[in-house]
Amino acid sequence: MENVKPNFPAFPVSRPRRLRRTPALRRMLRETELNPGDFIYPLFVRSGKGEPRPIRSMPGVNQWTVEHLPALAEKVLRAGVPAVILFGIPEEKDAVGRENFDANGVVQRAILAIKAAVPEMVVITDVCLCEYTDHGHCGLLNVGDVLPEPHLPEGYVLNDTTLNILGRVAVSHAAAGADIVAPSGMMDGMVGAIRQALDAARFEHIPILSYAVKYASSFYGPFRDAAESPPKFGDRKSHQMDPANRREALREAALDIGEGADMLMVKPALPYLDVIAELRQAFPELPLAAYNVSGEYAMLKAAAQNGWLDERGAVLEALTAIKRAGADLILTYHALDAAAWLAEG
Ligand code: PBG
Repeated sequence: MENVKPNFPAFPVSRPRRLRRTPALRRMLRETELNPGDFIYPLFVRSGKGEPRPIRSMPGVNQWTVEHLPALAEKVLRAGVPAVILFGIPEEKDAVGRENFDANGVVQRAILAIKAAVPEMVVITDVCLCEYTDHGHCGLLNVGDVLPEPHLPEGYVLNDTTLNILGRVAVSHAAAGADIVAPSGMMDGMVGAIRQALDAARFEHIPILSYAVKYASSFYGPFRDAAESPPKFGDRKSHQMDPANRREALREAALDIGEGADMLMVKPALPYLDVIAELRQAFPELPLAAYNVSGEYAMLKAAAQNGWLDERGAVLEALTAIKRAGADLILTYHALDAAAWLAEG
């Protein structure tokens, strides 16, 4: 009984710092490895010709015309980034967003141009109405002299009539050569409707990356500048999720899997790392993406431009955190910079 140990030793017995002493040890023991291959680079494409148009609230990000895309796609692939996601800014917007499913629409032409020049590039398309409708909402609206759905409020985003259009959009993207379609409108049943439309058009081989868990976030502000898609009135809270909700994220993800989603997304990323971790655990069998959105990008850019943060350090730390939380893939406007920094080692 003389060998009873004191409750605490005079010196620490366990010394985690032993494993952090040298760069080589730290390198060897790193748990999360960020790679350019994890990134998906978002591209804004507008009609017409001309020089890339910078986006004020997203320094370093441009609206591109189709003519520039082959060279840009080449550059992205050479940086080790395997995929882009396309957002179209159409020539004309209308109540239903016709250019969205026009074989000659801006996104369809962009897909063709990229796939012709760089066939290995994985081309993902955002499937939503908001960039194409004159009212800027993600679906058809309950408006008119006679309301289409009189039992619902005026201006309500109609669910099931919107699904038909989403199916047509997805099919037109697949027909142009898209590798993956990514519905982002948070309509109930959107994944099932798109799966059905794709299958009926013999695109059963085209996967769906569902923006399954998309919050009604203030961090989308700069994107709406970039895509010229702010809602003309109201907000998106009747379809996007309340930032306060976690359990609801599991419900949304489970529904989308049931409807045939091949991959899931959480959006935004940094304020929702807990949700990313939760989905990774609950649905380990599906690839999980996280969208490091425009506002997350703008925050770091603004601080870096003011000299308040070291951009390289802060960006790589943020992206590593998203991966550590459980994301396999990260949609990020930092993709090209981050890939270059990672290559420097
Ligand atoms: C909808 C869509 C949005 C974003 C991606 N897809 C905007 C929205 O829901 O308002 C935002 C992405 C970002 O902020 O970077 N088509």
